Amino acid sequence: MNLPPLSSDVRQELVALTAGVEGWLTVEEGELLYRLARACTGEGVIVEIGSFKGKSTIWLARGSLAGARTRVVAIDPHTGSTEHRHDGAPVWTYDEFLANLHRAGVEEVVRPVVATSAEAAAHFDQLVELLFIDGDHRYEMVRQDFELWFPKLMEGGYLLMHDTIRWAGPRRVARESIYRSRNFRHVGFVHSITFGQKVAENTPADRWRNRYLLLLHTVYDRLSYVPVPPAIKRVAKAIFARLQA
Ligand SMILES: C[S@@+](CC[C@H](N)C(=O)[O-])C[C@H]1O[C@@H](n2cnc3c(N)ncnc32)[C@H](O)[C@@H]1O
Repeated sequence: MNLPPLSSDVRQELVALTAGVEGWLTVEEGELLYRLARACTGEGVIVEIGSFKGKSTIWLARGSLAGARTRVVAIDPHTGSTEHRHDGAPVWTYDEFLANLHRAGVEEVVRPVVATSAEAAAHFDQLVELLFIDGDHRYEMVRQDFELWFPKLMEGGYLLMHDTIRWAGPRRVARESIYRSRNFRHVGFVHSITFGQKVAENTPADRWRNRYLLLLHTVYDRLSYVPVPPAIKRVAKAIFARLQA
């Protein structure tokens, strides 16, 4: 993947814009979303499964607005995932999501869909150029998201999956269906996001590289359980980024 980085002005603006939005996406993960959204041509749409309060939606939408203004379809029932419903209390994130999009000035390019991924997929007939999966993290649900949406992703389009580090469900689907797949090349990871470009059939060289990336990802995942000071963590992240080049 050879995409130009963000200018420091744009990066600073986006960091400030998303800092007050609750969520778990890191700045480096946001930058990846931005760069891939900016590279979209508009031949298909960008689909996000799991928007919560809009942190990742804003990175995607701002990237899109800096490029071909590809529509971002943001799918979420806005009633939270299992881990968000403390003591069974109801969750409703839609109002905050809309307010955050408004504050970021990205409403014009985002189409919110208040539904589950399965409900939305049943009526969805557009080509997808960029697919970001960050919904329900249980294995069966991540698998379902992948099975429902992967066929809609166009060849040459990118799939991104969040929380493939330390989260058993997304990690297993990423290993089974991205790193070991015959339909992905240019596979890699930025923090907990695993990404790959869809192809009709990858080459033996792609498959060797994907296996190497799987090994790196497995080591990175194991190391994430070791408590180390933030400075060492930063160095380790930089080393893993270099090892993927
Ligand atoms: C981890 S959060 C998403 C975080 C968001 N991408 C961000 O960057 O802040 C997971 C979201 O998935 C949503 N969700 C849960 N089940 C879903 C489903 N079946 N389809 C789509 N979204 C779902 C939840 O409502 C929740 O908002």
